[in-house]
Amino acid sequence: MKKYKVGMIGLGTVGTGVYKTLLSSEDIEIKKIVVKNINKKRDIANFDESILTTDAYEVINDPEIDILVEVIGGVEPAWEYISGAIKNGKHIVTANKELLAKKGEELFNLAESNNRVVLYEAAIAGGIPLIMPMKTIMAGNKISQIRGILNGTTNYILTKMDIDGASYDDVLREAQELGYAETDPTGDVEGFDAMYKITTLSTIAFGSRVKLENVYREGITKVRAEDMKKANELGYKIKLIALGNLDENGKADVRVHPMLVKKTSSLAHVDYVTNSVYLKGFPMGEIAFTGPGAGEFPTASSVVGDIINIVAELKHSDYILPMMRCNHDHNAETIDISDTYNKYYLSITAPNNIGVIGKIGNVCAERNISLSTILQKGLSEDNTADITIITEVCKEADIQSAIRELSECTIDSLIRVEG
Ligand code: HSE
Repeated sequence: MKKYKVGMIGLGTVGTGVYKTLLSSEDIEIKKIVVKNINKKRDIANFDESILTTDAYEVINDPEIDILVEVIGGVEPAWEYISGAIKNGKHIVTANKELLAKKGEELFNLAESNNRVVLYEAAIAGGIPLIMPMKTIMAGNKISQIRGILNGTTNYILTKMDIDGASYDDVLREAQELGYAETDPTGDVEGFDAMYKITTLSTIAFGSRVKLENVYREGITKVRAEDMKKANELGYKIKLIALGNLDENGKADVRVHPMLVKKTSSLAHVDYVTNSVYLKGFPMGEIAFTGPGAGEFPTASSVVGDIINIVAELKHSDYILPMMRCNHDHNAETIDISDTYNKYYLSITAPNNIGVIGKIGNVCAERNISLSTILQKGLSEDNTADITIITEVCKEADIQSAIRELSECTIDSLIRVEG
């Protein structure tokens, strides 16, 4: 039987899972793996180190290699390697969410003009099959809404803050000690990782390219233990939610930010490192995908699935996987966050002045903002009042203007509310 040859760039957590999973394959062989350090100790039994190289061009220029698997992440040198490999006739499997979000258009156009495919199931929600179902069996749908938890690290931190009543800093430190958060957690906690994922996911779902610069992003670093506690009292959990909405005029609202979700909502029950994505469309209605969004074997499952799909096609066709190709001839028109409509949770420290609640009410009323909850429990020792508000649906620009007007108050938190 002909063995199809794979060259892999990267042998970290995901690469190791891919290597171990493919050991039992009859028709796929990992011929070479590009690593930074050949002498590093690997957690692989009876590993044949002779397949390691530090020179990516040994893979890129090897005519025997059919598929390049890239699992190093980041834009460079991944882009140099992938683009070189495509020009040399290789198909690509990648887990690189940042590269897809930043250079997706160039990448897919290059692949198309070389009649090659780029598959990336592992890049969006690790082990959860999402791209392949969307591109194939769900292709007859018009998808209008994506709601999801797309980052395990932040979901772990928020879950622990909720359960333990602990502060963000304490939970982050613990998560780092346990290996759930990176030493430099910026990519996860500031929402970049989820932003890259929702950018690509919305592009696929809406059938037009969403540009990264039009995606709004806020991370979880400002979520306080007090907000968790208050949200709980009011019947909510706080989650980092990735959203994509397509309105009736075809405009896309794509964003990532913390959100209060009702305890009765399904996303409120997605805890720790689990990811979950809800897609709403016609004619399918709403469909949920839930599972492990990261990890050695779950992510390897998606990478290996992509490799097997390419190999299965290579046996029969010169123009493979047409439905998985990803060229969009137009960019999505997008809505700026200031023009979106949301409910808001506000935690306000106000001076204990007579009429301050009336002033807050008036400032909101002048902007057509209706309040659904207003809570104050006594006064603090420093003669300030801790006031919690939840609004009805109103325009983002109006709530921001109300906040500016309330200059004598400190706005401790503004978090959007689902529903
Ligand atoms: N760092 C990501 C997470 C996984 O915490 O979910 C890879 O995107």
